[in-house]
Amino acid sequence: MILLDGRKTSSDIKDEITLEVAQLKKDGKKTPHLAAVIVGNDGASKTYVGAKVKACNRVGFESTLVELPEETTEETLLAQIEELNNNDDIDGFIVQLPLPKHIDEQKVIMAVNPDKDVDGFHPTNVGKMALNLPTFISATPFGILELLERYKVETSGKHVVVIGRSHIVGSPMSILLSQKRTVGNATVTITHSRTTNLKEITLQADIVVAALGIPEFLTADMVKENVTVIDVGITRVEDNTKKSGYRLLGDVAFDEVSKKSAFITPVPGGVGPMTIAMLLKNTLLACKRSN
Ligand code: GUN
Repeated sequence: MILLDGRKTSSDIKDEITLEVAQLKKDGKKTPHLAAVIVGNDGASKTYVGAKVKACNRVGFESTLVELPEETTEETLLAQIEELNNNDDIDGFIVQLPLPKHIDEQKVIMAVNPDKDVDGFHPTNVGKMALNLPTFISATPFGILELLERYKVETSGKHVVVIGRSHIVGSPMSILLSQKRTVGNATVTITHSRTTNLKEITLQADIVVAALGIPEFLTADMVKENVTVIDVGITRVEDNTKKSGYRLLGDVAFDEVSKKSAFITPVPGGVGPMTIAMLLKNTLLACKRSN
């Protein structure tokens, strides 16, 4: 079993980006600048956004964190987005999801200028991704492609089973892996909560991408020997033995599934750190495009 080490890979990518940023600065070019907007006080979201800002510092990007209170109106948030759209110093920005219930998420995503949409969530960018045109690929699927590439996991002709059809992970992942690209050319089955014979399908998988958000859902009896497993789940479960009061669980029962795996991502330290590296990559791309 080979661990797909997201921490190490993400660190390697950040080192590569650091070098590029140093060169941009040396050439008198603009320093990449990422902004993040967070609305409300969700603990996990705050942690993620904090990590994104910290990563910007590490690679030499500029960063701006916009923190808005829970009761922020949709109108105020849309005005904030317009400001970021029009601010030439900001190369790219994200609005951390989920948003408070009184705000229409789709409306917010649509308000972001596609050229600054480093999350790749705007329909224009999703459409380009689906057509295999150059665009911002959202950080989580992009990070998974990168992990598979760097560990030389063969995808061409393989059967990939994706569990979960979210707009952020399952759906783009299934599209990307089926495309004619370096990491792609797979036969992809996308499954979800209405799939009736899931185990029958996962047992045929060379690669499983578990992105449904149910802790330890994928068990050893559901996979064949030498499977590659990508665990996108990250659920906080109460654990009073931890200082934080919780521990993180993936969608895969790691201890038992890893015994049958050729490659597997751990949680934490697998897909999670990769998403941050790829967000930086998209921001660098946005900056170079606007230069
Ligand atoms: N919430 C969970 N994942 C993401 C992400 O990749 N981007 C944003 N903006 N919010 C998220």
